[in-house]
Amino acid sequence: MRMIVLGSAAGGGFPQWNCRCPVCSLAWDGDPRVKPRTQSSIAIETGAGAWTLFNASPDLRSQILATPKIQPTGLRETPIRSVVLTNGDVDHIDGLITLRERSPLKVYATEQISSVLDANPIFGVLAADVVERCTVELGRPFEIDQSRIEFFAVPGKVPLYLETEDLRIGDSSGDTVGVDVRKDGKRLVYIPGCAVVNDDVLARVDGADVLMFDGTVFEDDEMRQAGVGVKTGRRMGHVPLSGSGGSMGAFDGVKIGRKIYIHINNTNPILIAGSPQRRAVEEKGWEVSEDGLEVVVGAGLHIDKRDDRGSTAA
Ligand code: MLT
Ligand code: MN
Ligand code: ZN
Repeated sequence: MRMIVLGSAAGGGFPQWNCRCPVCSLAWDGDPRVKPRTQSSIAIETGAGAWTLFNASPDLRSQILATPKIQPTGLRETPIRSVVLTNGDVDHIDGLITLRERSPLKVYATEQISSVLDANPIFGVLAADVVERCTVELGRPFEIDQSRIEFFAVPGKVPLYLETEDLRIGDSSGDTVGVDVRKDGKRLVYIPGCAVVNDDVLARVDGADVLMFDGTVFEDDEMRQAGVGVKTGRRMGHVPLSGSGGSMGAFDGVKIGRKIYIHINNTNPILIAGSPQRRAVEEKGWEVSEDGLEVVVGAGLHIDKRDDRGSTAA
């Protein structure tokens, strides 16, 4: 199974257009310890030469420009055949609009996430005669190309723009899901948003060859400390990496081949090569993804040569 990280940053990307927090400032100033990153998405080769996007980010067009394997192969022919959505956040659905030029596509989502698309007429630009919306149930595996896909609920919340006064955070109702992908006897689990690492999440990832997990914030109140906001990670539906219940240690004792952080917010100091926080996650056996990271599940690490924006490439 082949997977490419198209975008490793959280919503806003890195650096974020309106931000000079300490970490964004390094990126704006061209500090070689940081690499710019686009917004949250991965692509998996679900069949021979057929690729599925897991989330469609606002940066999808530039991600396609940077990734030869998902570029057009013929006259109005694309290797991108399917899109799987893990929530209705802007950073995960906005890129659907980039895919509007009448290529056949299937979009897979839970009932809740599908209803977000249905309620927003702009997504009607994906013409129904070529783009099929497939509503899938939690815990019921289905096939995309030669892969077996299964959605499972993870603690989360509704998208920011649908929050109401009776917001429930940490609900496992299908507003936020993880995805289990199996192909050729290998298994990758993708969880870009997760409010709590509970027993259900641990059971889901047990035995996975690769786990791609929510790396939004290092400290729960990091945004407040950086002076850029008052919300905690948990309030945004994202368990922090450090501290009590933090994701960094939450998977200790669970058998996982490779643990890789994705959906990393621009305030998160793990974005800085050599920072104490970066070293701490690496010592705990985590990798920090970057755009273009290609993983052949079951094989070694490979960073795509395409990216020369920073100087920390392996
Ligand atoms: C999140 O992951 O918390 C969202 O993407 C926030 C947002 O909508 O910008
Ligand atoms: Mn997000
Ligand atoms: Zn910032």
